[in-house]
Amino acid sequence: MRDLANVYLSLKKLDWKILESIFKNMWDFEYVPSHAIIRETNLSEEELEAKLKKLASMRLVENKYTEYLGTAFTFKGLSVYSLKRLVAAGKVEQLGSLIGEGKESVVYTVISQGKEAVLKFHRVGYPSFKKVKEKRDYGTLHYTVLTVRSARREFQTLKRLYGHVSVPRPIAWEGNAVLMELIDAKELYKVKLENPEDVLEMIIEEVKKMYELGVVHGDLSQFNILVNEEGVYFIDFPQSMEVGEDGSEEILKRDVENVLKYFKKTYGIERDLKQTLEEIKKG
Ligand SMILES: Nc1ncnc2c1ncn2[C@@H]1O[C@H](COP(=O)(O)OP(=O)(O)O)[C@@H](O)[C@H]1O
Ligand SMILES: [Mg+2]
Repeated sequence: MRDLANVYLSLKKLDWKILESIFKNMWDFEYVPSHAIIRETNLSEEELEAKLKKLASMRLVENKYTEYLGTAFTFKGLSVYSLKRLVAAGKVEQLGSLIGEGKESVVYTVISQGKEAVLKFHRVGYPSFKKVKEKRDYGTLHYTVLTVRSARREFQTLKRLYGHVSVPRPIAWEGNAVLMELIDAKELYKVKLENPEDVLEMIIEEVKKMYELGVVHGDLSQFNILVNEEGVYFIDFPQSMEVGEDGSEEILKRDVENVLKYFKKTYGIERDLKQTLEEIKKG
């Protein structure tokens, strides 16, 4: 994904049309059949096959021959297409630098409406811990469809929380990409706090506000909490759950336990888990 900008710039109008056609049809086919793309692009069978081979050599699509030629996005292909949609929508002007590349996402800075922002490409489908395959009329959904859902979930949760809980301002969502405000802060695990008790209180306070709004983070830890002089910020929401949803109480407990354990291990602060959970749920 380091060459995303170069790949983006090398694509021609016809390539984008093919990617667009895959995007439109990925909800119905695990591998989008060539005839569906031909219908939308007016290419001949041979022309399309040559184009798809080229896109596959760039690792943007994965082709599969069964009774017919079918194709699906790779993570990189869906990401570059999602970026194209954000550019077309006037949300992104320029790709900046890669700031994080993990198992579950690739995160870039970008320029959005004249300001620096964060663009997160989802790599793993929501919910990653549940059954990944889903039956549809045409068989199984491709995993990249699930990454779109994961991005949507993160965007929707951010929209719900922003203004009430300390989270980045969500700007836009396209495909597997979520565009949001850049928070000038460091991950909790990277800083040595001078006032750990206060910071822990702030974190619990935010968890409580989230709970009141009906949301459980689902992946809360020192890696997904950012801190700076002004306060704490929660990020990374694709696993978020509704309060009352099956298993959400367990997940809330795990979230809070992660945080308490970290403060105990790092700063020797003792805070009772049960009591803290009661406080959060008290309202
Ligand atoms: N809005 C943001 N502002 C600043 N940094 C961010 C923002 N969102 C993500 N990051 C950085 O990117 C990293 C990965 O993002 P995250 O949402 O946690 O995805 P992952 O699922 O890969 O952990 C974060 O740990 C953080 O360093
Ligand atoms: Mg994270």
